[in-house]
Amino acid sequence: MGRALGLVAILALFTGLSACIPPETECETPMPVTIEVNHPGFPKVPEHPENQLTDKGIALGRKLYYDPILHPEGKQSCSSCHLQEKSFSSDAIVLPHVNLGFDHLYLWNGSIQGSIEDAMMFEVNEFFKTDLAKLNASTDYMALFKDAFCVDQIESKHVAYALAQFFKTMNSYNAKYDQYIRKETTLTTEERRGELIFFSELGDCFHCHSAPLFKDNLVHNTGLMVEYPTEHDKGYYVVTKNPADLGKFKTPTLRNVALTGPYMHDGRFETLEEVIDFYSYGVINQDNIDPLMKQAHKGGVALDPDDMAALVAFLHTLTDESFLTNPDLSRP
Ligand code: HEC
Ligand code: HEC
Repeated sequence: MGRALGLVAILALFTGLSACIPPETECETPMPVTIEVNHPGFPKVPEHPENQLTDKGIALGRKLYYDPILHPEGKQSCSSCHLQEKSFSSDAIVLPHVNLGFDHLYLWNGSIQGSIEDAMMFEVNEFFKTDLAKLNASTDYMALFKDAFCVDQIESKHVAYALAQFFKTMNSYNAKYDQYIRKETTLTTEERRGELIFFSELGDCFHCHSAPLFKDNLVHNTGLMVEYPTEHDKGYYVVTKNPADLGKFKTPTLRNVALTGPYMHDGRFETLEEVIDFYSYGVINQDNIDPLMKQAHKGGVALDPDDMAALVAFLHTLTDESFLTNPDLSRP
């Protein structure tokens, strides 16, 4: 009896405490979400101490991604240039949005370093220069941000966090090649030959386009050019001002690469055949060349036509139809 009374007292104490919090900050906690990527070797989706993944946060990020409200003149949404059917890329130099939650280096020149949350802060504040007054004037968005982050005032951080949550769900790991790794399907003889070339000294691609993400979160000079006419061509040099970093670019992922052309930071190649031709015979040996371009002194890895075709066939096995058509990633 006495114990029961004590419990009531404790409950009363808690109720009393919660009554001190002003009613406008009382919110329901959105449902936490854990992203499971069921594929061998895939890293865990990084967690951000302030940005716990939740159902409401992810849904809000998805809505924002497709909404021109983020653009100060309402002219574009993220999805205007990043199209799902093209692995969230589009023309020449648009980098795709695939497995970006794992990255810590962003943009062709690697000028954004940090988490996907940091990358989204840049997109919102500097690239789009989002007008937060527009979001704060929308009763619809006020309610959605309150549900996701328990806030009464939308700040750029909350916009960035919601987008980052959506990005962490944009994961591709179900290409034909993934299914082959999981022993769910087989590759043709030509694709197997391409796989061998890719992952051996024959083609030497795997050092930088490392499986399973087919990127390495580093910048490299691949011997594409010796002069760097535009600011964009200077690459990582723009960040460090060190001449040794001229022409160094982020290794783009090769997931869904059949769909992300034209290729390279300047879109100089229309087809994968042209890219392989470059790596075979077009590499320019020079001071800044990456040590991993081991055959640069010979102009490249010198694949014969059959091996070039096999390598292209292998790159096509990295296309993930289920990602390109995933209804959870489409316009809500
Ligand atoms: C006008 C076209 C356009 C729009 C609209 C656009 N982007 Fe991009 N995005 C690009 C281009 C071009 C690049 C590559 C630029 C570079 O690296 O120099 C890029 C690169 C990125 C990257 C870096 C990817 C990587 O692998 O490092 C991220 C992240 C990104 N965009 C997110 C967004 C988000 C979020 C939005 C909406 C707020 C958005 N983009 C809207 C064209 C666009
Ligand atoms: C030294 C690291 C390195 C090696 C080795 C390497 N790559 Fe790359 N790859 C890069 C970088 C960096 C870029 C971007 C270069 C640029 O845009 O100027 C790139 C770009 C590409 C692209 C264009 C992707 C896009 O979306 O634009 C393809 C395709 C590609 N590489 C395939 C290969 C293949 C196939 C091999 C092996 C024959 C290979 N790479 C070897 C680092 C490397």
